Parts: sequence; C-alpha cells; structure tokens
Amino acid sequence: MRYFFILGNNPTLSFAEIVSVFKIKPEQVLALTEKTLIIELAQEIDAQQIIRKLGGTIKIGVINFQFSIPRTRDNFQTIFNDLMFKLINTNNVVGKFNFGISYYGAGKFKQEKNLAMEIKKALKEKGISSRWVTSREKVLSSVVVEQNKLVSDRGVEVVIISDGTKCWIGKTLAVQPFKELSARDYGRPGRDDYSGMLPPKLAQILINLSGAEFGNVLLDPFCGSGTILTEAALMGFQNLIGCDISEKAVEDSRQNFKFLMSNVKSMPNDIMLNIKLFVCDVKKLSRKIKPNFIEAIVTEPYLGPSRMERNEKNIRAVARQLEELYHQAIGEFAKVIKPGGRAVMVWPAFKLDKFAIFLDSSRILANSSFKIINPLLGFNNKILRLTNRNTLIYRREGQKIEREIVILEK
Ligand SMILES: C[S@@+](CC[C@H](N)C(=O)[O-])C[C@H]1O[C@@H](n2cnc3c(N)ncnc32)[C@H](O)[C@@H]1O
Repeated sequence: MRYFFILGNNPTLSFAEIVSVFKIKPEQVLALTEKTLIIELAQEIDAQQIIRKLGGTIKIGVINFQFSIPRTRDNFQTIFNDLMFKLINTNNVVGKFNFGISYYGAGKFKQEKNLAMEIKKALKEKGISSRWVTSREKVLSSVVVEQNKLVSDRGVEVVIISDGTKCWIGKTLAVQPFKELSARDYGRPGRDDYSGMLPPKLAQILINLSGAEFGNVLLDPFCGSGTILTEAALMGFQNLIGCDISEKAVEDSRQNFKFLMSNVKSMPNDIMLNIKLFVCDVKKLSRKIKPNFIEAIVTEPYLGPSRMERNEKNIRAVARQLEELYHQAIGEFAKVIKPGGRAVMVWPAFKLDKFAIFLDSSRILANSSFKIINPLLGFNNKILRLTNRNTLIYRREGQKIEREIVILEK
C-alpha cells in the first residue's frame, strides 16, 4: 500500500519520526518534499489511530494513482472517472456529499476546477447532490477538512501531490486531532510557564524517536509538569516513571495525570497504567532506580534560567553549567538503562544575533557509554537537515532558545 503523509512545520523532524515509527528503509520512500512524504508499506495502517500518535504529521492518506507528468487532457479525464470509483465511495451517502481538493506541488493545479466539475457531474448522475469545499489556500487545512466532514462517509478530500516529474492522487484518511492537542496543551491544570512546558506534539515526536515499545519502561527524570509522561500514556505506554528535583513539578505531574484520566476521551481505557512519580535529583537517580531497569529515557532537562541578560558571556557560563549537569545525568542514565536502550534528550541551543551557541557534546559525553545516533542514516534528500553531529533542531518563530534533539544509545 502507498500512503502519503503531510508533514508539519519541521519536515526533517516529521520524517525522522515516521522513519522511527514504521522502521522504513530508504527504498520505501517514493517521494519526499518539504510538505509531503509518500511511502510504500507492506502492511495496511489504521490512519485514524496512528495520526493520534504522530506529533509531526498533519494528514495521512492513501495513494490511488501515480503517473508521470505531463499527461494529456484525455488521460486526466480517465483518471477523474476512475477517481469516482476508487476515491469516492458513494454507497452509504445519504443527503449531501462534500468534497475538497488539495494540491501539494509547485505552482497552481490548473485542472482543479475541471476536476471539481467532473466530480460534481459524476455524483449528480448517481443522484447525489454535492458541495465543493474550497479555501483561500492551495490546500485545505485540517480544520477545514474536519469541519466539512471530508474524512467520513459524507465527504472526501482528494489530495494531489507533485514533485515536478511525477504526480500522485489519493485521499485523506485522517487529520491531526488539533482540538484534542490544544485542549491538552492549554487545558492541563498543572502548568509551569516559568520552567517551560514542552508542546505535546514535540513530546510525541521525542517518544517516537526513542523507538520504545508499549510494554517498555519509559523514564523522564526531569519530568516537570509531566508532558512527556502524559503523552506517552495517551500513546499506549503503560510503564512510566517520572521524577524531578522540584516537589511542585512532581505535584503538577500528578494533577495532570488525574486531569488526563478524567477528561481525555481518547485515553485507552482498557490499559492498566503503572506510573511512579517521585522527587529526585537526577544526580542520585541510580539510588532510586535499579540497574538496567529502564528501556528508554525521554527528557527535556533544565534548559538554564528563563530570565537573564542575554549576552555571550552569560550564555557561555550557563552552557558550562548545563554541560556539567547533563554529563552527570548521563552518567546516571548509563546505570539505570538497559544496554542498547536509548535516551532522547533536548539540549538548548542559544540564539544570539549572529550565531547560536550549542552545548559542547565532548564535555557532556566524556567517558560515557552513550553515543549519538543518526536517526536518518542512509536517507538522502535535499530537504533533510541534520546538524554536523547528527542531531535534529526544533525551532519556533520568535524563540531565543532552539531545541536540539539528541538521540543517544547505550
Ligand atoms: C524544562 S523543565 C521540564 C519541563 C517538562 N518537559 C514539561 O513539559 O513539563 C526542566 C525540569 O528540570 C527540573 N530539574 C532541574 N534540575 C534538576 C535536577 N538536578 N534533577 C532533577 N530535575 C531537575 C526542574 O525542576 C524542571 O521541572
């Protein structure tokens, strides 16, 4: 089966997450652009379920046609007719049918109106009245797709992807559950805007990059208000451990778990959660957790003071402190994690006017049994961007601290 994925704002990160979740090989990638990925998968996927677990994917769909450009008008006509059978299942349609068209490619999709009229005509011949859902943008947003029920028996979003030489046509199977994500982001009671909270989507990406499986024991030793742990629980992880040096943080995490259990409908209710939360300085982690007990660590550690005069001297001093803290933390991780286990960490990169200050990995990893893993080994594409030490960067508009995502393996 061929599937398309519409990637989020950071395509490298979205792609790395998909590679990790589906364990895809370079030959399975049919196309990769800034916004889209098309892959060949041996197994069928439950797109509705999977999109809830992928923080970096906006839409998932299935590909029905692939052809080389240019095609003649007649050939397009045949495709439009075929589309009616393959993309639009009108068996269960009662009342009005909505359809939309999104084009992911350079320039404009000139045949869009023509295609829309063909779909309308064909539906009319079947006695179905329809509405063409449009928006100002070239593509329909997840919100428009959901609000117009384009992923249901009553509608369809036709997706056209072009990389300049080839064209693929398919239909959307699932869109990112934006309402749920925002309710989790802004609705959680235990908030700590001072220490900072990870966006839930990024938490999902980090968890996926760890390659951990649902039965594994997952640890966040700088848990803060528990974003990584609560997202992991929603994704299906059952064995979770969280700790933090701050009592308030541990209490916030407890509150957020309670909120999750009672408020989030998508919580898999047949799953027995086994969560341990306690106060602990990361430097003493191995006093609280048995050797080799943990399969994966996913964590956003302390990233330095949120308020300080941002000059190079101050930032370099903070960087030295963090390198020392992370060095000690990683020494403890090595004791509690199983051989082969991964620790996915966020390291800050401090943006100054002309350059950014990254932490010194040789200090952090001095004498360590961990090494940095390249999540994109073997993949070659001009849109993919890794740092020269094989880490990923997450940046948000206007933020002075970028997050470097480091995947370590023991
Ligand atoms: C950036 S916050 C983590 C935020 C978390 N990812 C979230 O979304 O809520 C870093 C956390 O590290 C904790 N911390 C700082 N030093 C620590 C240490 N030595 N051991 C354990 N936790 C520490 C802080 O209390 C803070 O909650």
